[in-house]
Amino acid sequence: MEQEKLERRVREIFEQQGFEVEQDGNEIVATKGDDRKKIQVFSSDDYTGEELVDRVDADLVFVDEDLPEITDELESEVSIIRDERDKEDYDLPSYELIGDIAVINDLAGRDQEEAVEGILEHHPYVETVLLKDEPLSGEFRVGGYEKLYGEEIETIHKEYGCRYRVDPTKAYFSERLATERKRVVDQIEEDERVLVIGAGVGPYPVLAARKADPEKVVAVEKNPDAYRYLKENIELNNVEDIVKAVKGDALEEVSENEKFDRVIIAIPEFADEFLELAFDNARKESVIHYYRFLEDEQWEEIIEEIEETGESYEVLDKVVCGQRGPGVDRVCIDIEAK
Ligand SMILES: C[S@@+](CC[C@H](N)C(=O)[O-])C[C@H]1O[C@@H](n2cnc3c(N)ncnc32)[C@H](O)[C@@H]1O
Repeated sequence: MEQEKLERRVREIFEQQGFEVEQDGNEIVATKGDDRKKIQVFSSDDYTGEELVDRVDADLVFVDEDLPEITDELESEVSIIRDERDKEDYDLPSYELIGDIAVINDLAGRDQEEAVEGILEHHPYVETVLLKDEPLSGEFRVGGYEKLYGEEIETIHKEYGCRYRVDPTKAYFSERLATERKRVVDQIEEDERVLVIGAGVGPYPVLAARKADPEKVVAVEKNPDAYRYLKENIELNNVEDIVKAVKGDALEEVSENEKFDRVIIAIPEFADEFLELAFDNARKESVIHYYRFLEDEQWEEIIEEIEETGESYEVLDKVVCGQRGPGVDRVCIDIEAK
């Protein structure tokens, strides 16, 4: 298929789902709320499979059916656009792709079968389709899911060259936060000591260990299933020498005597409970990434929470890194301890 036609088909897929789409050459950035996907498109008219291996630097890759099977060699998920069948238009709901599992967040009145068919049509590598039928809840932030297609609910998700084994029905994982995780990891300086509170299956610690050069990363996780995946993912990504996984409640497991240059409180729902702990384990000039959900841009409420600790600090940055729902943003305040 011609490159231009392939790019148009890919833009249409994301526009149909309500994404804002920008294109620069064969790179497309699709944005909807907190979901930002960097996409590359390669036509067999212009590229060979071998050429792709060095060129791929994206969350998702789309190729046409004449490119050879290269999925396993690339660090991103690869979708194939087929000339014939893709002529049919599907009204797709909002969904996330976690490895070869598609998670539909909300059918929003759409036909279930058509939604599944459309997702499989666009992403032939998808093995399982789940429908989130209960919102994320509890301290482990896990939702309820109905299986609409397939059997396997454990998968390996690839992100920035790292691999994460996860069962999204047992442990929190969102591909939508990839760009935010990268923003934080890009700030890590050589030989830093990093603490991650609420490490989940490991996307912050593993990315930090693989893409930055920290001396040590301590990753604390309370959900036993998430902890099991965290341990596995540390091994899967060969970062055992750098990342130490700690099982249990961060409030009990983190020693006050251990100081860190950077603390990531990755639990927006309850982050205020860990703020004292973060300051106790920070040195002067350490950075704390404080995630919160923010209603109607009431930043003063978050600043008040920080003020209440009585600690000296300076706000380095305020970042909106996603949306939990209408009027509710996921934000991060980067704070320097003074
Ligand atoms: C929103 S998830 C973020 C997970 C991960 N950082 C990510 O980006 O995918 C928050 C995580 O914090 C964990 N958690 C909740 N309370 C905790 C506590 N007291 N100590 C350690 N981990 C906790 C949850 O089980 C969950 O995996």
